[in-house]
Amino acid sequence: MKQKTILITWGIGYIWSHAVIAFEQTWYKTVIIDNLDNSCLSTYRNIWEILWYKPDFYEVDLRNKEKLEEVFKKYSFDWVLHFAWLKAVWESCEKPLHYFDNNLVGSLRLFELMQSYNVKNIIFSSSATVYDSNRSIPTFPPKGERSFNWFSENDLTWNTSNPYGTTKFLIENILNDLSKFASFNVINLRYFNPIWAHPSWLIWENPDGLPNNLSPFIMKVASWELPYLNVFWDDYETIDGSWVRDYIDVVDLIDWHLKAYELLENLDFSGFIDNFNLWTGKWVSVFEMIQESKNATWKDIPFKIAPRRNWDLASVYCNPSKSKNILEWTAKTSLQDSLKNAWKFYNK
Ligand code: UFG
Repeated sequence: MKQKTILITWGIGYIWSHAVIAFEQTWYKTVIIDNLDNSCLSTYRNIWEILWYKPDFYEVDLRNKEKLEEVFKKYSFDWVLHFAWLKAVWESCEKPLHYFDNNLVGSLRLFELMQSYNVKNIIFSSSATVYDSNRSIPTFPPKGERSFNWFSENDLTWNTSNPYGTTKFLIENILNDLSKFASFNVINLRYFNPIWAHPSWLIWENPDGLPNNLSPFIMKVASWELPYLNVFWDDYETIDGSWVRDYIDVVDLIDWHLKAYELLENLDFSGFIDNFNLWTGKWVSVFEMIQESKNATWKDIPFKIAPRRNWDLASVYCNPSKSKNILEWTAKTSLQDSLKNAWKFYNK
């Protein structure tokens, strides 16, 4: 069987580097492009250390069509795994135009070249942020109801709470039209709170400076790099007053991309599009996350109650049954195992 060649955009980032490893280890050839603005060459060296060889890598900004085209000329891609590039919600609220320029313009240049070079299969890493943010705020999971279904794939996507989410929403819609009018085959994978690291502990989520996301922040408090966690408010109508999310292990998340590609590969028609939520289906509150982290690390996690961040959504979790039934995959790693794995990394 001919080895398939995948273009992975922004393949040096946290989630994307996990994708490079998973696809290489499943006998796909990956070609990475990244402009290294939001990622670091040491991650590429760590990918190399895990695989024992170097996947092809080009330092290219997606908005630079000429340089991007040189890569398209060199390979015959079977499909593309596209991650919109910038992903810090707070930053997108401060610099919305910067996000539109990078994420949207870069995606358009990529889609133009895909069309010119007849590369029609694409998996897009989307987000729960595409769902109607108004719907998330006033409604909470019934107290004690652990797997109450919230967003499902048929729910309305619009009215995003931040510019980062808007870029995901718009790219999904552009891809929807490209499937209708340009025969693209598209899968949008909507994920929300990926956590933790590759079991090699060579690639991980370890942002420089102050982390924005809950789980790396907690680990830095547990390892005394930071004095305490800010819990962004505690008086909501949830199980314990803090907000709830669905946290999925990054390795499980990437395995789902492999299943999604199998679906695309077995199509006998073009113009396909579908969307899948990639979540565990179990929500966890911020206070529960603190307790789970204490259990995993055997460390105290001091916290203070702080005001809400203005882009935060209250309750975001979903019905994972569509991914389970159609992609035949469920998340396998428990939250406790993800956190223990993370803690081993921090203790390394
Ligand atoms: N939280 C705290 N303290 C912190 C950090 C977070 O209490 O220091 C709380 C937040 O209020 C939220 C929960 O922990 O209730 C999770 O927050 P994260 O920042 O870890 O994650 P978000 O759900 O806000 O953001 C995630 C991804 C984004 C994505 C966004 C929306 O990190 O990339 O979901 O889909 F865009």
